[in-house]
Amino acid sequence: MKVIKVKDYQELSQYASKIIIDLIKEKPNATLGLATGSSPLGLYENLIESYKKGEISFKDVKTFNLDEYIGLPKTHKESYYSFMHRNLFDHTDIRKENINLPNTEGEDIEKEVKRYNDSFNQASIDLQLLGIGSNGHIGFNEPGTPFDKETSVTKLAENTREDNKRFFNSMDEVPEYAITIGIKNILQAKKILLIANGKNKADAINKLINGEVTEDFPASALKNHPDVTIVIDEEAAELI
Ligand code: GLP
Repeated sequence: MKVIKVKDYQELSQYASKIIIDLIKEKPNATLGLATGSSPLGLYENLIESYKKGEISFKDVKTFNLDEYIGLPKTHKESYYSFMHRNLFDHTDIRKENINLPNTEGEDIEKEVKRYNDSFNQASIDLQLLGIGSNGHIGFNEPGTPFDKETSVTKLAENTREDNKRFFNSMDEVPEYAITIGIKNILQAKKILLIANGKNKADAINKLINGEVTEDFPASALKNHPDVTIVIDEEAAELI
């Protein structure tokens, strides 16, 4: 694991977005694994800016998102479908048919789990972007998830729901379930880029860098991957 420590969120977003911008310049038809949450917002702004300057195009880029809440329609502002369109896709020339997210609106969730898993496994992810939950989750793979698990329906940990409450009016509105790709799927990517900022992530980053590999701490699975870069700001690096 390569650990890059930068000063603050702005530098983190700059550093991490440059990795993706360089990849798209080198491989205009790259397949990206994308994440939601507040961590990648600055990075997505930089990608949009680079697109607007004409440095990169998303015309031939394909994307696969990690996860989607169950119980929120696509139109809900906190669905990951809405999040991705609002914060990235709507401001670029990406083609609709190249955007992939689990669709949790249908009746048959298990069928969707299989469909998404199959299409994810057929794609070859050039770079997987990840945030990290304060409990070490990646995607929505909560502590205790077997490393060999593929896409599934997952029950969100209570502290994950607490962390994500800030996006909703009340705890009752925070979904309890999601579809997430599994740790096994994540580890198939050629490169992995994990970003984390703020004091709230310091403990998780310490465990990731200095702790053991254990299913009790999902992000530790990344130690089994040969090409992982972690970009953290000073606050997230506080305990390492
Ligand atoms: C969310 C997402 C993850 C994200 C993580 C951290 O619940 N499912 O993909 O990386 O939690 O979120 P944030 O970046 O807002 O701290």
